[in-house]
Amino acid sequence: MYLVDTHCHIYLEEFDVDREEMMIRSESAMVNRHFMPAINSSTHDKMMALEESYPGKCFSMIGLHPCYVKEDYQKELEIVEDWLQKRRFSAIGECGLDLYWDKTFFNQQKEALVQQISWAKSYDLSIVLHTRNATRETIDLIQKHHFEGMRGIFHCFGGSIDEANEITELGFHLGIGGVVTYKNAGLDVVVKEIPLKHIVLETDAPYLAPTPNRGKRNEPSMLMLVAEKIAFLKNCTIEEVARTTTENASKVFRT
Ligand code: NI
Repeated sequence: MYLVDTHCHIYLEEFDVDREEMMIRSESAMVNRHFMPAINSSTHDKMMALEESYPGKCFSMIGLHPCYVKEDYQKELEIVEDWLQKRRFSAIGECGLDLYWDKTFFNQQKEALVQQISWAKSYDLSIVLHTRNATRETIDLIQKHHFEGMRGIFHCFGGSIDEANEITELGFHLGIGGVVTYKNAGLDVVVKEIPLKHIVLETDAPYLAPTPNRGKRNEPSMLMLVAEKIAFLKNCTIEEVARTTTENASKVFRT
């Protein structure tokens, strides 16, 4: 039985003190692959160095995070495009829309997302979407720019059942993480209704640690807590959750 962490920022400084031990814990907890979303150009070197240290275990994505779409976003996008021309990545990401932190650059966020969608098309890559407080807006934009063969993940999905259906009809999977274990978050009710074939697992480490570690640093070895909760909600075995979500992740990332 293996799990795939489809979204973890394990190259960040939060793991500088114990990265090797963290990777050993991950292996003991059955997590054999880690997909790492880029944030902005300040993260690229550390992310790709980690990928090189753990071949076949850690995989880099490339993209510009919506919270880092600022005055210099065009320069940042140029750097992303340079990387795309240089080597193969596991996906475009993370990119998307964020109406939680700062709305100042919302139009530029949309522009950056449209650009990154076009790269997903031309490089035939999945697209990993961040949609905080902007699920509706992101679905609308994806519908508008949809192309044949489009695929990817709505990372940290937190929408309604209707939105989940719209997303899966667009060929996307739903990234489910620690939030599904939180009391009163309401995500458990939605996940119960979503067929397993549309779900992939993620930690979003170092953020959003699952219960009973809520508030602490999250890491991939905690992914089993998410798998356990989904198995409980769907009244199936953990093995079934592991097998299906691993297959789904392989489909998304074509690995
Ligand atoms: Ni993220």
